[in-house]
This record gives sequence, structure tokens and C-alpha cells, in this order.
Amino acid sequence: MFNSRTQQNIEAMSLNVVILAAGQGTRMHSEVPKVLHKLGGRPMLAHCIDTARQLDAAQIMVVHGYAGEQVRASINDDEIVWLEQAEQLGTGHAVQQAESQLNKNTDSKTLILYADVPLVQAATLHQLLDSAAACCVLTCVLDSPSGYGRIVRNQQQQVMSIVEEKDADPHQRKIREINTGIISADTQHLLTWLKRLKNNNAQQEYYLTDCIAMAVEENVPVEAVMCAHAPEVSGINNRIQLAQAEAYYQQRERESLMRHGVTLKDPATTYIEGIVEVAADTEIEPSVSLRGAVKLAKNVRIGMNSVIIDSTIAAGTIIHPNSHIENASIGAHCEIGPFARIRAQTELADQVKIGNFVETKKTSIGQASKVNHLSYVGDAQIGAHSNIGAGTICCNYDGANKHQTIIGDNVFIGSDSQLVAPVSIHDGATIGAGSTITEDAPAHKLTLSRSKQATVDHWQRPKKNK
Ligand code: UD1
Ligand code: CA
Repeated sequence: MFNSRTQQNIEAMSLNVVILAAGQGTRMHSEVPKVLHKLGGRPMLAHCIDTARQLDAAQIMVVHGYAGEQVRASINDDEIVWLEQAEQLGTGHAVQQAESQLNKNTDSKTLILYADVPLVQAATLHQLLDSAAACCVLTCVLDSPSGYGRIVRNQQQQVMSIVEEKDADPHQRKIREINTGIISADTQHLLTWLKRLKNNNAQQEYYLTDCIAMAVEENVPVEAVMCAHAPEVSGINNRIQLAQAEAYYQQRERESLMRHGVTLKDPATTYIEGIVEVAADTEIEPSVSLRGAVKLAKNVRIGMNSVIIDSTIAAGTIIHPNSHIENASIGAHCEIGPFARIRAQTELADQVKIGNFVETKKTSIGQASKVNHLSYVGDAQIGAHSNIGAGTICCNYDGANKHQTIIGDNVFIGSDSQLVAPVSIHDGATIGAGSTITEDAPAHKLTLSRSKQATVDHWQRPKKNK
């Protein structure tokens, strides 16, 4: 056991992954650097890093340049080795920035990923890494190869070079096998090729792709691994390609949920923008958006048009349509909505009911308590088995500071009451409807604050002037 571990570590130690992310992405026409544009709610670059992680690389290096600080700040990962490419002089020049950092053991391999090719899967990359050839390029055959570098093969179908579209002759432009950009190579070879790169081409850039012709020239074996599934290796250069990649990504995530036992009533309208975990037999109705870190336990139902952000929902809970839930933890067998707004730091125990047009914030609610209609419950703590009547407002804000409302167990708050915080309503208390409560209400008693009902005899309604 110990031995095989050590062996694995040695193998792992010798893989460098270099992710190219320095370009501006002019074709996006954006102030946001291209690699930070989002796919499934997360930067393209984050997807690449995730995939690299699955490869057990010794180190993951990211070459950044355009809006470099912004790029670094967007990726929360201490283990990334950041390398700056101050001027973006091409993909080859970008890899040159990693030279000093590369692990150069004789058995070391370097895998180059492009941050704008974010959907490639680890299994596909393993095919490259498993190749015995000193240089291996991931290719794909496309119906419309326009914009990509083309794979030039000889009569024997051996890869000879990669030619960029802008440098290609009309004959080469007809080639439908394209360079995905992803290359793996023995590090020592790669270093010698990088040193020899020239920029005598249409874009006056140092192309990484020129390494292929150098390898061929030196009789170093070059292999092409063909990816059969084009969307996985599509490059994202503009917003049309971004939208296409998003559609593909969503489809992939939806299918993965369904394969794991989740029912999607109308899969095409389920949106997954984050890292979601959904247990089996949970059902998601049409037009639901799950964003950020979302965990749904089994037998949960999410109603139509609901948005769930960074929240956890325990088993058997029903979210009725049109609810908006953010940064909340919801217990088991609760019922929420329709039209509920559950805001940050809401913690609901089991069997809680939150009805229509209720807003909660920074609030914990104990087991089986109910806030069924038209209420605002903010900065509050509610015990178990309490009933908060329709139209109850926690007046938490005095214009300067926020204050707490504490409500015990088995409390009954009559409809249309205002609880002016800081205030406590003790266990078993009843508050009469229409009360404005400014002092603590004692346990097990009826407290109310409203003027006595009066009837005025002989009163007449005003009449309209003629
Ligand atoms: C590149 C390839 C092309 C391939 C295509 C696949 C080259 C010369 N061309 O073209 O063969 O078919 O990708 O999608 O490699 N970058 C840097 N520094 C630079 C330039 C680019 O870090 O100086 C990064 C970009 O941020 C991007 C990636 O490298 O993530 C690719 O650059 P891009 O300009 O989009 O290359 P393509 O024209 O798409
Ligand atoms: Ca590109």
C-alpha cells in the first residue's frame, strides 16, 4: 500500500499543467477579461483549473496578463502558481513564461490547456497523457473548422504541422481536422522547441503550434488524439460561442442530475450555475435556477420559477412556485411559498411553514412554526410551534441600527401586529391582532395594544359637493 502510494506520488510529481489565460479576448468586446466570462455561473478559467485538479498534477500554473490582478482575485486557490505574461505575444510566448517553473525531470510531462477551451474533460486529457509519443496534440474534426488552426498530415496520415487559419493556403483551409490547442509534451523536448520559436507569421506572434513541425523535423514522435465530441473542445472567442458552450454545459449538468435520479420536469429550463448536489427522487419543476453552492436532499420539490442560491434544503421539503431563496438553510419537511423570499442567514428547523409574500432575513425559526402570510421577519429568533399571524412585521430597524426580536415556543402572534425590536415575546404568549408591541410580552398571557372599539351613532359619510 505504502509503496504504490509513493509510486503514484512520483508520477504525479512529474506532470506540469500550464493554463494559458493571458489574452484579452478582443472578440468578446468586453471590459471583463475573456477567461473570467462565466460558464455555468463560474469563470471559464475555474472550469479549466477544476479539470486540471482531476489529473493529479504536481503543479498547476496559470499564465495571466491582461487584467491580471482581476484574474488572480477571481480565482480563490492558494495552490495555483501564477505566471505573468506582461505582453501577450502569442501562445508559445505564454508557455515560455512557465519555463523556469517547470518540473524538468527526465520523465516530466507538460500539459498545456487553454482557458478559453474550458469544457474538456479529464478522461479526454488522460488519453493524451497516456500516449507514449513525446508530443501529443488533441484534435477534432469539425464541419466548419473556420477560425481554428488546421492539422496538416502527410500521405501516410502522419501529423506534420499545425497551420493557423491566417497563415493557411486555400488548400489547407479546406482541412477539417483542427487543433484544439491542447498539447502534451515531454518537458525537456518542449523546452528546446520553445527556445526556437519565431514570430514570422501573419499575426507576428510566437505560436505554440509551431512546436509540432519542430518535433517532426527532429524525428520526435508526434501523435494526434482525436476527440470525437466537438462541443467538449470548442474554443470560446466571442459571445456566440460562449452561448453555445453554455447550452452544452447546461445539457451536460442536467443529464448528470437525471442520471443520478433527479427528475427534471422540463430539463431545457433547469439552469445550473454553480456547484450543485441533488439527491435522488428530488423533483425540479420547469424554469428553476440553482446558483452557487446548492445542496438539495432527497424528495425535495422545487416549484416552477424558483431561484435557489447558496442554500441547503433537507429531505422532503417542498418549495412552492415563484420562491426566491438565498443563503439559507432549510430543514426537512418544510413548506415554503408560493412567492416566498427567504434571504440571507435564514435557518429553518424541520416542518416549518413559510407562506406567500413572506420575507425572512437573519432569522431562525424552530420546529413546526408557521409564518403563513404577508409578513416580514428580520433579525428574529422564533421558537418551536409558534404561529406568526398574517401581516406581522418585525420592526427591526430604527433608522440607524438593527435590533432583535425574540419569540419563544408556542407563541401566537395575532394578525397585523408590529413587533418593535428589541423586544421579546415569551413562551406561550398570545398577542392580540392589530397590536404594536414595544415592551416584552410575558409568558402564557394575552398582551395587546389597541384602542377600544367604539361606534359613533348618527355619523354620516361625507357627500360629494355639487
Ligand atoms: C489557438 C490556436 C489554434 C487553435 C485554437 C483552439 C495558436 C497559435 N493557435 O487559436 O491553433 O485552433 O486556439 O481554440 O496557438 N493566450 C495567452 N497569451 C497570448 C495569447 C493567447 O495566454 O499571448 C491565451 C488566451 O488567453 C487563450 C488561449 O491562449 O486562453 C488561446 O488564445 P487565442 O488568441 O484565443 O488563440 P486562437 O486564435 O483561438
Ligand atoms: Ca481561442
